[in-house]
Amino acid sequence: MHAPSHCLSLAILLFLQLCPPCQCSISAPLDHKPLLSFNSTWEILGPFQIGTREATWGADPLEFEGGFRNLEYDSQASFRSSLPTTGTAHWNLTTAKTLSGSASANASLSISYSNVDWDFLKTIYGWASVQYQTWARGELIVGGEDTQHIILHTDAILECWINDTHYFGGDYYSYRNAPPVLHLGPGNHRIDLRLARDARAFGGILEPITGVVVAVEQVTGNLNLAKPGILMSDVIDGELATPHGSVTLRNSGTQDIEITGIHAANVSTSASTSYSLLGLDTGSQMPIARGANDLAPEQVTDDNAESAHEPSIVIVAGQTRPVAFNITLPSHNASSLAYNITYRTVGSNKQSNLEVTQDLNYVSVYDPHKITFLHPGGMVSYAMLRPPAKNASCRHEQKRLPVLLAMHGAGLEADNPMVPGALRPVSDLCSWTVFPTGVTPWSGDDWHNWGFADVEAAIEAIPGWILYGNWSGPGVDTNRWIVSGHSNGGQGTWYALTHRPDKVLAAAPVSGYASIQKYVPYEFWQPADPRRTSVVSASLNSYRHEMLMANAQGIPIRQQHGEVDDNVPAYHSRFLSQQLRLAGANSSYNEVPDQNHYWDGVMTTPPLVDFYYNFTRSTEELPRELDEFNIVVGDPGDMGSKGGVRVTQLEDPGQYGRVHVRGRRVKTSNVLGIEFGHPFWTDTVVVDGQTLDLAGAAANTGSTIQARLSGNSWVINTVGTTDESTDRRGRQLGSMTAILRTHGPIIIKHPGTVHASHLALQVSRNLYQYFHADTVILSDIADTASANATGNVIHLSIGDGLTSADPDFPIQASTSGASLRDSRGREQLYDNSQGAAWLRPLDGERLELVLWGADEEGLRQAARLVPMLTGVGQPDFVILGEETKWKGIEGALALGFFNSQWQVTASSFVS
Ligand SMILES: *[C@@H]1O[C@H](CO)[C@@H](O)[C@H](O)[C@H]1NC(C)=O
Ligand SMILES: *[C@@H]1O[C@H](CO)[C@@H](O)[C@H](O)[C@H]1NC(C)=O
Ligand SMILES: *[C@@H]1O[C@H](CO)[C@@H](O)[C@H](O)[C@H]1NC(C)=O
Ligand SMILES: *[C@@H]1O[C@H](CO)[C@@H](O)[C@H](O)[C@H]1NC(C)=O
Ligand SMILES: *[C@@H]1O[C@H](CO)[C@@H](O)[C@H](O)[C@H]1NC(C)=O
Ligand SMILES: *[C@@H]1O[C@H](CO)[C@@H](O)[C@H](O)[C@H]1NC(C)=O
Ligand SMILES: *[C@@H]1O[C@H](CO)[C@@H](O)[C@H](O)[C@H]1NC(C)=O
Ligand SMILES: *[C@@H]1O[C@H](CO)[C@@H](O)[C@H](O)[C@H]1NC(C)=O
Repeated sequence: MHAPSHCLSLAILLFLQLCPPCQCSISAPLDHKPLLSFNSTWEILGPFQIGTREATWGADPLEFEGGFRNLEYDSQASFRSSLPTTGTAHWNLTTAKTLSGSASANASLSISYSNVDWDFLKTIYGWASVQYQTWARGELIVGGEDTQHIILHTDAILECWINDTHYFGGDYYSYRNAPPVLHLGPGNHRIDLRLARDARAFGGILEPITGVVVAVEQVTGNLNLAKPGILMSDVIDGELATPHGSVTLRNSGTQDIEITGIHAANVSTSASTSYSLLGLDTGSQMPIARGANDLAPEQVTDDNAESAHEPSIVIVAGQTRPVAFNITLPSHNASSLAYNITYRTVGSNKQSNLEVTQDLNYVSVYDPHKITFLHPGGMVSYAMLRPPAKNASCRHEQKRLPVLLAMHGAGLEADNPMVPGALRPVSDLCSWTVFPTGVTPWSGDDWHNWGFADVEAAIEAIPGWILYGNWSGPGVDTNRWIVSGHSNGGQGTWYALTHRPDKVLAAAPVSGYASIQKYVPYEFWQPADPRRTSVVSASLNSYRHEMLMANAQGIPIRQQHGEVDDNVPAYHSRFLSQQLRLAGANSSYNEVPDQNHYWDGVMTTPPLVDFYYNFTRSTEELPRELDEFNIVVGDPGDMGSKGGVRVTQLEDPGQYGRVHVRGRRVKTSNVLGIEFGHPFWTDTVVVDGQTLDLAGAAANTGSTIQARLSGNSWVINTVGTTDESTDRRGRQLGSMTAILRTHGPIIIKHPGTVHASHLALQVSRNLYQYFHADTVILSDIADTASANATGNVIHLSIGDGLTSADPDFPIQASTSGASLRDSRGREQLYDNSQGAAWLRPLDGERLELVLWGADEEGLRQAARLVPMLTGVGQPDFVILGEETKWKGIEGALALGFFNSQWQVTASSFVS
């Protein structure tokens, strides 16, 4: 289920090791200058220390020297650095392996340092010490006479400059989903790459070599398919398993493009404008009738959309967007289908079209097959589904079967035959087996916020599949899960069982990591006031599984890990096994002798096979009624109930909340809101010594009863107060990553300047690159369409440009700087603030992430903080000073959390 360690970067590394760069360099024939080529000589400056996932914060020592972009190669220059001998880093030259095709070119760099004693550093600091940073400078040479439209892939790179233009985000996991589009004239263009080695992505035990690739490809300069083909379901018994389809389009031109329709060969269907532009609250998503063909002629043959007053799908210049539409099969035994996408340049009436074809995949209903559905973020996602076999080994009393989740490891697509193949030996299980994707090969954010929403959407797609698929087999209980997974999927299994305890019948986490901090320690971060560090660390509370083991009480857990795993050390499972014991949970741990991270049959060892059969046939009722249990909550926004009790609010979101339940007695710590659900909580409960009458309240509120701490006493919320209150709640809770709990595409608003448009595009690109997220980019001036949007908003602003919906909000920003009102009501003005990022509430439980810069450069700093990689730890607000660029979080002027009233907490850092 897991390709040997994050295949792509590893393959490149191995390749480079076998084939030293200089020997492989292929020069183009002298008489034929290629259109695109890279200079094979690169100037390198490094190494410098950097911490795990710290690069988002800046922490670049060369910024202290004015920035790498302002330094010129000088073999005599020396730079202080903590890693090399003599404590100095120098410039060096290296030869890249360069290749040029007719309209493409690439350069593979393999950088290593002979002046660092890595082995010795590792004995003290471990993998943290081999995650260094380096800069590399090369040249892209554009031939010919004309400006070329080019896309730039930056495999395993987080940040680069092309001449004076900065690109942050890159492509750390080498997805190649959303490369920037460049329009380059003939000549030499300087490329500066900031390389930050990641032990996880690069393979921990390997030589500390940084292997990266830059690649350019010529594109047409108008609308292109960013990925060939259509994302769509497999065909079962002559019908599509699910009707949702999606194409990914890139505008590689210089003008915005509007999609006016998506036409099938003989039938037509309109791109769902209201849905794709404004988003759909998929919480109330209805299953779509298979074969539904809502032909809307006035939209399809639309030569003047202005008169139709339909909001349309706009893909701004340089943007990559997934576009959803409903698919109908052309005929019963077609082998492929084709759609025409019609579009035009915004403001023009000239229609163009782009054709996309897709081969159909016919499978038996009982085989694992691809189903598509809507992610809450508004784009189409898929999972592999294996319905219960004809000969499933069920008990006769089992009418609605449980869901068996099998979560994949990092670097794998769920439609890779390896993924469903891992459970082929147990094909007669009495369950609905779901192989979710988590949206990307790294499961979005490691199966957390974004990735887990995908898991739940995949499960919720099963009833629709049953209803419209003429399925006469057993039904499904979507609230009854057996969870398993390998590697990153093993970690996802821990996430599921600690965050949805009432739904998990049993769990088998295999070879997973405990937390990103335990995987590669944060030792090499720039030094910082422990108060600042604690804010960042607290932002990751919900993802630190070792702290959440109490939530596993009552859930049978079967752990497994290979003894000699050198990718995710067995330490992680041993450690959690011990923590489970200390938390009073029920687990068994099987360490498989002499096995490494992955082996054939890793998911079907005899104890696991036993586990699947036993628990899929279990008739135990969920949720479990437990006499005594504990709940630990990092972020109520992503926490389900346990024993019918759910924490809905923390007093201080920078600290874990705890609940101890014993019979009818509940004791809380750092909890402000709590919910009691059926079937267990119907009479009375004693919370912190105070008796609450749930029966009386239930008559008014329905099945769940909410109580909140008001002053020193617990009160039951009456109907209405929950909906109308301006309290921070539900999807608004959590740190900055809460912005990912969007319902519908994320709206990116910007003031319309060239620089702000570039940053808006960068945010959009990163959200698509790392999450396949759909985004709508709107300039403030033209913004009328966001009024009815359901999605969260990312709002870029410069100087005085920020309009405040609420002048009393504790953070404000203007040309005089960012200001903050702390927990004691003191106003603090940071006139030296460069930029800031903070969350603000919007109606309908939505959020706005404000990115503000004192100037363009400050906005660039703030835009780095948009959630993208796990482990970065952005809290609710951050005010950045100039020094952040080299000092990392120590350069932040203030950072911390908002409480339930959107006020700055006392646990925040305020300088
Ligand atoms: C490649 O870069 C080297 C070093 O910067 C430079 O001397 C050389 O002229 C460049 N080659 C081309 C073809 O531009
Ligand atoms: C580099 O370019 C060559 C020629 O276009 C291509 O065959 C090769 O796959 C590319 N390598 C990478 C890593 O992009
Ligand atoms: C300089 O680069 C060369 C070629 O990549 C490498 O072999 C050498 O070790 C580097 N020098 C240092 C001091 O690391
Ligand atoms: C980069 O700078 C070079 C030299 O000043 C110039 O020829 C080239 O056009 C610039 N490229 C871009 C993309 O600005
Ligand atoms: C796509 O549209 C073009 C131009 O309108 C047309 O020639 C072509 O037949 C269409 N293709 C399909 C598959 O409908
Ligand atoms: C698909 O069809 C359903 C109705 O059958 C409609 O509600 C939905 O908006 C359509 N979706 C898209 C993406 O066109
Ligand atoms: C099998 O499942 C039951 C609950 O359904 C549980 O009590 C029992 O311990 C399980 N046996 C094994 C060997 O896991
Ligand atoms: C928002 O929705 C209302 C009511 O449905 C509608 O009247 C209005 O035109 C919509 N606004 C936009 C900008 O689409």
